[in-house]
Amino acid sequence: MATWVSGESRRKRVRVLLFLISFYLMPLIPFSCSAAEMPISRHKLEVQNHLKRLNKPAVKSIKSPDGDIIDCVHASNQPAFDHPSLKNHTIQMRPSFHPEGLFDKNKATTKSEQSSNSITQLWHFSGRCPEGTIPIRRTTKDDILRASSVERFGMKKHTTIPQPHSVNPAAINPGGHEHAIAYVKGDKYYGTKATINLWKPNTQQPNEFSLSQLWVVEDSSSQDVNTIEAGWQVLPYFYGDNNTRLFIYWTSDSYQSTGCYNLVCSGFVQTNNQIALGGSLSPVSAYSGSQYDITILVWKVKTNVSIYLRDPTDGKWWMQLNDSVLGYWPSSLFSYLADSASMIEWGGEVTNTESFGQHTSTQMGSGHFPQEGNGKASYFRNIQVIDGSNNLKAPNGISTLAMYATCYNILSGNNSDWGNYFYYGGPGRNPNCL
Ligand SMILES: *[C@@H]1O[C@H](CO)[C@@H](O)[C@H](O)[C@H]1NC(C)=O
Ligand SMILES: *[C@@H]1O[C@H](CO)[C@@H](O)[C@H](O)[C@H]1NC(C)=O
Ligand SMILES: *[C@@H]1O[C@H](CO)[C@@H](O)[C@H](O)[C@H]1NC(C)=O
Ligand SMILES: *[C@@H]1O[C@H](CO)[C@@H](O)[C@H](O)[C@H]1NC(C)=O
Repeated sequence: MATWVSGESRRKRVRVLLFLISFYLMPLIPFSCSAAEMPISRHKLEVQNHLKRLNKPAVKSIKSPDGDIIDCVHASNQPAFDHPSLKNHTIQMRPSFHPEGLFDKNKATTKSEQSSNSITQLWHFSGRCPEGTIPIRRTTKDDILRASSVERFGMKKHTTIPQPHSVNPAAINPGGHEHAIAYVKGDKYYGTKATINLWKPNTQQPNEFSLSQLWVVEDSSSQDVNTIEAGWQVLPYFYGDNNTRLFIYWTSDSYQSTGCYNLVCSGFVQTNNQIALGGSLSPVSAYSGSQYDITILVWKVKTNVSIYLRDPTDGKWWMQLNDSVLGYWPSSLFSYLADSASMIEWGGEVTNTESFGQHTSTQMGSGHFPQEGNGKASYFRNIQVIDGSNNLKAPNGISTLAMYATCYNILSGNNSDWGNYFYYGGPGRNPNCL
């Protein structure tokens, strides 16, 4: 392309050549000339190619009432297997080990109760994906055009893990990201489990978001922070609407060039044929009304084999939603997280673009402060971590961090029903947060 614009005569020759090629080949390759047009068309082609890479051939497609198209794609044909380290990967359909915790004792055991724990997504009203396939939310041209660039489509814009050890507000607030979180660190963690209620927070500006998630973090190297993340989010510039959506994320290099949301890059291996990552979750909780929640479990099967015999690429970080195993992140995606995590975080994050020079009114969680408590504030409850013996247990010494407590706050506690829990969130802009 550089030589193409360098000289006028060369340009003419190329143009004539292109004309001849397109003249003779036009009927065979109808779109062959679009690439030779101006950058705008090059961009168009780039978008088309990206869509082709992302959207795998579907066995069946389902139109969801929320406008999504869900493609049922053969599990062996999913995006994960485009990853160079997963070329010869054999998909594992079930985890070999499942941690049990403090709050599983009273677990529903009858069939009907179990099925009430399964996740409902809007697209289920229009159909289901057959066995052997996985549901993938189709990426549209508009989705990509809303992104800042094709290359960064589906990637977080900043190093957004909350940095509890940092005292410099600029370092903990890159690009207007504000957090209210709880965390534990200083041990080796092999996963976490928590129950989170669902809300539909308002976001004031189209480029702002509001999310609630857990972070499994290994941050011993600040250049190569490794994370596994999961939760729900309202992210209009990515999804094109304000719905509450299930998401996962990962990175192995501090959000620079690896990782992405959901399945929009290769990495996460999905085994579940019922739940679409990026799909809407419903119903959501109502203020002073019914509360709806999801339980997320992320765990690493820690093998007890001698370190010398163990294949470090063999481990997997599994994820379960309510009672459904979703799939796993192969350890080979990670550097530091290949073994264990050094920090776990839970809570909310929003962006505040300060439009019109004011703190925006983007809500976190329910949009109400934690002090309002049950039925009104958003919560994480029954928070547990997985220790080196594969046991789920109450975390030792949870700390909390609210960067702008007058905008979004957090309040933690414990009791026998909810174990370790916290309420978090807030309205953003208010007389104490301007
Ligand atoms: C996949 O298998 C082929 C043939 O056995 C081998 O040459 C290649 O290195 C393997 N690739 C990976 C990423 O393991
Ligand atoms: C998850 O399970 C809980 C019961 O533990 C249930 O109340 C909730 O509706 C389920 N969540 C979804 C989104 O289906
Ligand atoms: C999303 O919310 C914004 C206000 O925050 C509103 O302007 C917009 O119309 C909403 N979009 C949809 C698709 O509902
Ligand atoms: C529960 O909360 C009390 C204070 O209310 C605190 O002293 C105790 O350490 C907490 N227990 C756990 C397991 O976090």
